[in-house]
Amino acid sequence: ETIDAAGLHVIPGAIDVHVHFREPGFSHKETWTSATQAAAVGGVTTVFDMPNTNPPTASVAALDQKHAIAGAQAIVDYGLYGLIGEHNLDQLEAMAQAGAASFKLYMGSENPLVPCPPDGAIVEAFEILARLGLRCTVHAENTPLLAWRGDKLRAAGRTDAAAHLEQHIDLAAVEAVSRTAIFAEWTGAKVHIAHESTRHSLPHIRFAKDRGVDLTVETCPHYLFLSTDEGARLGDNFMRVKPPVREPGHAGPLWDALLDGTIDIISTDHAPHLRSEKTRDVIWDCAPGFPGVETSMVLMLAEVSRGRLTLGQYVRMACEAPAKAFGLFPTKGVLAVGADADIVLLDMTKTGRISAAGLHSIGNATPFEGFPLHGLPVRTLVRGRTVALEGRPVGTPGWGRPVTVAC
Ligand code: DOR
Ligand code: ZN
Ligand code: ZN
Repeated sequence: ETIDAAGLHVIPGAIDVHVHFREPGFSHKETWTSATQAAAVGGVTTVFDMPNTNPPTASVAALDQKHAIAGAQAIVDYGLYGLIGEHNLDQLEAMAQAGAASFKLYMGSENPLVPCPPDGAIVEAFEILARLGLRCTVHAENTPLLAWRGDKLRAAGRTDAAAHLEQHIDLAAVEAVSRTAIFAEWTGAKVHIAHESTRHSLPHIRFAKDRGVDLTVETCPHYLFLSTDEGARLGDNFMRVKPPVREPGHAGPLWDALLDGTIDIISTDHAPHLRSEKTRDVIWDCAPGFPGVETSMVLMLAEVSRGRLTLGQYVRMACEAPAKAFGLFPTKGVLAVGADADIVLLDMTKTGRISAAGLHSIGNATPFEGFPLHGLPVRTLVRGRTVALEGRPVGTPGWGRPVTVAC
């Protein structure tokens, strides 16, 4: 294949360490085919898939099942998360041997399929992962406190108070981030904070890093580009996500933290739901989350075009930092001798707009409808093969392969 890249920019493929690709269990929202097509078109060449599927990825058998599904359909490379519960601590090592690329711990969960282990079990899990050398991603939000209080307030019809709780008491996130860092310091575990949404966590992240904790942190485009002020225009239901998009005043400090390295990584928390699941009358009945793999790079490139960050800074947070944090360095996420040819060609002169109808995810309802774009990926290669061209997926299902993690 001869590729003419005259006038284009060449960057490494983005590595999205936080996606929910839904299979097995929720194929009506997304399949590995639709999701990896969306990723390829969006310039994402490697994804790490979350374990809140059905069955949850909490055993070797469940991991094998997901590997088979992903292996048959994927057109980009992938790592699979194992789920940590109090019930499967004795299986984490076997799951790591069976190819779990990382593990996910939920400090809060309203999903009955997803356990929320007590502190003792968290510490034990961290000890095991410290021994195995694998990083543990933590959903350090929506703690049981919030769920318990929120349910009670909603049951009493106090929806305003419940909304206030979910939206403004982000100190529950600060508590969970700090607790994660303390447990990591005790055990020597490498930990990763998922979807950082609030400026209040930032001093606590800096404190932990200054103390030498091996802590990495991600944020997502919705926390950088949206605030509750935009809810009326973009649709509160479409914006609904956990953790929630915060009130104005958080995005600026999160941008600063991303640029100064306090926040290491940009991921997406790609979490598609059907439009019908996002358009119910009562916002609490609307499923939280929306697709992200196809819209993240283009949103960030528009900011590159506006001069908010350099392309080099974007590559650091989208490619290099995730590769280093999750043990993919030096094979992925950097343009270096010996690295996989996971490559994206950009045309920084191209403009456009985000349109849900044009997205490849099945659950395509996005709060970013109409966002103006300047700079688009025009070709995506995974291990040297073109998997997306000019906005169209062209890869062969099954080309995607599981990543190898070097701890
Ligand atoms: O908004 C969210 N959606 N947050 C999560 O943590 C889970 C995700 C999903 O799986 O739908
Ligand atoms: Zn989460
Ligand atoms: Zn998530």
